[in-house]
Amino acid sequence: MSTMTINGQSRPLPDDADALLVDVIREQLALTGTKLVCGSGVCGACTVLLDGSPVASCLLPAQTAAGKTLTTVEGIGGEKLHPVQKAFMAHDALQCGFCTPGFIVEAAAFHAGWRAAKRTATPSREDIAAALSGHLCRCGAYDNIYRAVADACAGRFDGEYVNAPRIEARDKVTGAARYTVDIRHDGQLEGAILRSAAAHAKITGLDVAPARAIPGVAAAISLLAEDNMVRYVGAPIAAVAAKDRRTALAAIAAIRFSSETLPAAIGLDAARRADAPIVFEKASRKYAGNVSEGGGSPASWNGNVRGPSAAFSKKGKRAKALLAEARERRDPLLVEATFRAATQAHASLEPHAAVARFDGDRLTVHISTQAVHEVSAKLSKRYKLAHDKVRVIAEHVGGGFGSKGSVGMETIAAIELARAANAPVRVAYDREEELSVAGYRPAAEIKVGLLPSAQGDLKALSVTAHADTGAATNSTIAALARLIYPAEAKELADFDVISNLPPGAPFRGPGGPPMAFALEQAVDEAALRLKIDPISLRKRWDPDPNRQRLYDWAMSLDVWRNRTPAAAQSGRYRRGVGVATGYWLYLWQPGSSIELAIEGGRFVAKTAVQDIGTGTRSVIAGTLAKAFDLEPQDIEVRIGDSSLPQGPGSGGSRVTASIVPPTLVAIEKLKAEILRSAARPPAAGSNAPWRELIAASPDLSVSAERPKDHRPASGISSPLRQAGFMGIVFGWMLRIFNHMVVGAGVPSTVQVMEVEVDTWLGHVRVLNAFAGLAIGKLAAPVLARSQAAGSVIQGIGYALYEARETDARTGHVLSSSMEDYRIPGIADMPRCEVHFDEAGFDHVPGGGVGIGEVATIPTSPAIANAVCNAIGVRLTEIPIRPDRIVAALKGRAAA
Ligand code: FES
Ligand code: FES
Repeated sequence: MSTMTINGQSRPLPDDADALLVDVIREQLALTGTKLVCGSGVCGACTVLLDGSPVASCLLPAQTAAGKTLTTVEGIGGEKLHPVQKAFMAHDALQCGFCTPGFIVEAAAFHAGWRAAKRTATPSREDIAAALSGHLCRCGAYDNIYRAVADACAGRFDGEYVNAPRIEARDKVTGAARYTVDIRHDGQLEGAILRSAAAHAKITGLDVAPARAIPGVAAAISLLAEDNMVRYVGAPIAAVAAKDRRTALAAIAAIRFSSETLPAAIGLDAARRADAPIVFEKASRKYAGNVSEGGGSPASWNGNVRGPSAAFSKKGKRAKALLAEARERRDPLLVEATFRAATQAHASLEPHAAVARFDGDRLTVHISTQAVHEVSAKLSKRYKLAHDKVRVIAEHVGGGFGSKGSVGMETIAAIELARAANAPVRVAYDREEELSVAGYRPAAEIKVGLLPSAQGDLKALSVTAHADTGAATNSTIAALARLIYPAEAKELADFDVISNLPPGAPFRGPGGPPMAFALEQAVDEAALRLKIDPISLRKRWDPDPNRQRLYDWAMSLDVWRNRTPAAAQSGRYRRGVGVATGYWLYLWQPGSSIELAIEGGRFVAKTAVQDIGTGTRSVIAGTLAKAFDLEPQDIEVRIGDSSLPQGPGSGGSRVTASIVPPTLVAIEKLKAEILRSAARPPAAGSNAPWRELIAASPDLSVSAERPKDHRPASGISSPLRQAGFMGIVFGWMLRIFNHMVVGAGVPSTVQVMEVEVDTWLGHVRVLNAFAGLAIGKLAAPVLARSQAAGSVIQGIGYALYEARETDARTGHVLSSSMEDYRIPGIADMPRCEVHFDEAGFDHVPGGGVGIGEVATIPTSPAIANAVCNAIGVRLTEIPIRPDRIVAALKGRAAA
């Protein structure tokens, strides 16, 4: 038997020639800091050092390491930490942390080479981008990764350990943070799902016995719904649990089933045809997925088209008439265009995963989820178990972006297999499953009609959106246009086009990015025709007080003041500057609670919220530390466990606004309790009275629930109230059915992008990004900045690269690997300036609201407007691919 030396210890290697190095490291040696994401050498998450050189362990047979020295993230730095680890912590060069071990290992190797050759010179962004180009971070922590690597190489972290703004940062840079895919119980089995290869079929017979008969297989179950239908390629049919993944895959291949193939409607155009096969008959509509964070509005169905959902229109007929008259008289100010946005995959680096185990009648499930409390409640209902018999745990979550908010098939399969096998079972999606059936932002076709008056006022607006939702409903795109740019009349209609494609899912600001891509370009076009500065026009049309301040900030930027008129340049490379506005709702979750306790002199905070990379632990710890004059690291924050007091879901940017207010109430209660039970007051003149009191305090605890907001300042009200009767109804439904309250005031952003267009090859590069945000006071400023920059780079991906491709005949997703689905890398990250305007939310206890959704919304139209400014041609379809630029410049349609 051959051996390797790993992190200084000799370890045997399996004789199996097919065993991969990453599997040996993770599964046999339990060194789970090394992550498996793409499995194809694209993302860098599995990087380790082999005899000192970085390699992708997902590509290497384990035998490659025979006789060699291997270093994983657990072996980098040791107790004192490597300078690169300290720099990542200090600069907050991480969010969910799932990509971080790979970056740390690669950056440590780069650091060693750089210091040997250049001593403490500072590497350029280009040097760092070249070194780290084989790594992907879906949270978009690139801006701070640049800073961290530059400073580590320059010797600024050669000294002692530094405090980090993110309290769990040390666990993430050392590989100690445990994600669902890292959980391993004794006797744990591996689950796998048999999926449909047909886009539309009725399963007429299913026999799992051949799978069950394979040695090492412990359970095989059906996953079919009552109607036995599959409505997209990848729909689940059955699942197995086996001793290892290889056996599980062999077992699902052994399952036999018969089916009746049905005609399929694939995609927006095919599904809209009058003769298109029907995807959901009336009785089966309950099986449709949901692309919204709320419940959506009721709407009628016509074949595969659900809609219009037009409750947010205002004088819709009047808007239609005004636009028709303007068209008739060929009004040069009338802007009419059809915009198309592609599907965007969440592509979280940690896949959807669940590990279920039963202990008697108690169910414990580790899930990569955005909602431990809600998912636990749903599981207890689904499996008819008392609430205290179901526990959902998510210690760390490797990204979600909206796709992990409900009970997914990975969870159902893991639970049902665990019950059938009477053993713990893990089900973790592979990358193909993650990029094909785990949800996506629906593609959309958006028709806009926008009519300014001759005096430059906004007279009428029409937005009609058809969303390519796959086997799902509830898109809300056009309706969002009611909440900005008041006009005399607005006609806003949303349609879901349901087809035999996997169901879409909520994705960061659902509906916001496609709506902004269309509307913000139409406003830009209106400014051109009115010969008004585009920011000035927005200032005129948009009375929101938060955004008024952001417009002033944007107008003061040098890059804006110095921009050249549209299409004023010639030559191969042309630069342009564009602006766009975005907003989201301020949401909070009633019932959100926190418990604060002193336990054996330790300060502990407990709530059933989860941290998907947004920094929830640090927000809570920072709020407490400030109140008690402690360091955030002095506080133990227990989250990610449904057995803790009810916490909010991580969706709709609601966590900060839901959890900071009860924390502030609990702080006052705890202070009173500590003082009441103190045996003696702190020493006179003590400079840390609370620290002393806590250390001497008996065990005690207090809890508090999210209070209502204060009365907002005049002029600030709920946007749904402003939207009229239907807005109030919608807000009521959201509260009753989705446990979310729409608060007063609107989180907003104004973004300015500077791009360079290569007019020969069609490449667009974002050179500089400026993001102004009005989200009130910041609970954790460094983390807020990081999240804003990450949202911007995700918006850049949406604008320039990301598109799911499907086979229009078969319904297969063609872009189901990370080689085929391009997300932005570190070299795509422009210099990013984030400006926070902290006013506007004084009515919210704590003074601030969430950032996650709003910051990604206007990035794509700001880039499109910048491209138009550079080349004088408006791109109405994203991603803005090179062939589309070249075709647009030649005045013809792209393929
Ligand atoms: S998992 Fe190995 S490179 Fe992505
Ligand atoms: S921090 Fe990089 S993927 Fe989340």
